[in-house]
Amino acid sequence: MNSRREAQMAGWASSELLRNLETGIHVGSWRDPEGARTLAVTSPVTGEEIATVADAGEADALAALDVATAAMADWSATSPIRRADILMAAHARILEIADELAVIICAETGKVLAEAKGEVAYGAQYLRWYAEEAVRLGGRITKAPDGNSDIVVESRPVGPCLLITPWNFPFAMVARKVAPALAAGNTVIIKPSELTPLASYVLVQVLLEVGVPAGVVSLLTTTRPAEISGPLLSDARLRKVSFTGSTGVGRVLHELASAHFAKTSLELGGDAPFVVFDDADVDRAVEGIMLAKFRNSGQTCVAANRIYLQRGIADAVLAQLTEKVGALTVADGFADGADVGAVIDSRAQAKCSEVVETAVAAGGKVLARSAVPDTGCFVPATLVAGVPLESPLRDLEIFGPVAIVSVFDDEKEVVAAANDTSYGLASYVFTADLDRANRVARSIDAGMVGINTGLISNVAAPFGGIKASGVGREGAAEGIEEYLILRYVNVVPGR
Ligand code: SIN
Repeated sequence: MNSRREAQMAGWASSELLRNLETGIHVGSWRDPEGARTLAVTSPVTGEEIATVADAGEADALAALDVATAAMADWSATSPIRRADILMAAHARILEIADELAVIICAETGKVLAEAKGEVAYGAQYLRWYAEEAVRLGGRITKAPDGNSDIVVESRPVGPCLLITPWNFPFAMVARKVAPALAAGNTVIIKPSELTPLASYVLVQVLLEVGVPAGVVSLLTTTRPAEISGPLLSDARLRKVSFTGSTGVGRVLHELASAHFAKTSLELGGDAPFVVFDDADVDRAVEGIMLAKFRNSGQTCVAANRIYLQRGIADAVLAQLTEKVGALTVADGFADGADVGAVIDSRAQAKCSEVVETAVAAGGKVLARSAVPDTGCFVPATLVAGVPLESPLRDLEIFGPVAIVSVFDDEKEVVAAANDTSYGLASYVFTADLDRANRVARSIDAGMVGINTGLISNVAAPFGGIKASGVGREGAAEGIEEYLILRYVNVVPGR
């Protein structure tokens, strides 16, 4: 264990933020009645068990839904300003404990500590944003065409929500769902990834501490996600599911939700094309690729999955990329100078090796491969170029620090290649030609496009995809709509 890790983890056992881990946080039965099961959280860096949390089962899930249903009337009737104040207080508290929370995120994910700090800051913005939105839930009034009545359209909270969150941003993705859900007046049941349940644990503690009433937020940490989501989605009292994760699981949840027509938001897989035209600024393009590819060890749904360089700029971009990728320090997220942390587990490691093998078998050449520590779930930061445009990796979301580069000649060809995927989450275009930027951005089938930037995630932007990348949007003003339903009242004025 390196000394920086030891120093950072020193207060771990006594941390107030991690109290009562094994009993779980939810009102109702605390444990699976069959036998007090627990879930071990392990470090992807050391392989050691770092915490044990309650392992909820079906009985716990239904108990959580009971309390979420019972709490709905009072919470939805709580004034918007009170809900806003609570979320604002949660935002302030998260900023107070930011360093401690970042250590927890770094420990459970293996990501670089600076990135964990960035995640806390990013996630906290959703608490503030939706505190501000809570008091701006509008509606509209229009006159009926015959002039005899008023049509009053108003928003209401959708009802108890199930929020299923991923391991890659275990704090920010929970905050991005829970903040609009609560702001809109809903009660929630959070089911975090079993690989990284600790950050959501801290967020729930904070929410309860700052005044969210009992029953409004429940947390179900579990090794048996199907035993949670199946019974909950089969129960008509649950009115909404929001999920971030794989397309396969999203499809199953979508089907389950359809039984009772529960509302769904599904933020699923991505296969983002990153297109660089000859007239782009080389330095900016390289900076964009490094960010879009290697942020969070390549484990983001919006990661540059396929990099397309136009022939005239390819050598210049590849020369810089080769140097930069080879120089990346892949290390324990707690280590000094770490640029790229661990990947989440050995399956992710194996998948990255397969991606490189497949790309090389198709004619690609490895231009750079960084060093990695001897043990732990690390993947060398790798650059493979010369992969044919018609890639054998079609539809394969890499989710690791492996950059795959192809060369193209003209715009039409690259737009066709970019759209040759089932996914449609993010995309990136680098060019100095404004007309081309607009034209290509609008020709690529994706929910989000970055023009001359490798970072599109923003609290003020509606994050989400099309096609197999899912439905619904998170963040921005649109994000709260996902937690509301409309109704209208026809008002005939008295005579
Ligand atoms: C994701 O990977 O799903 C989220 C990434 C982000 O918000 O930047």
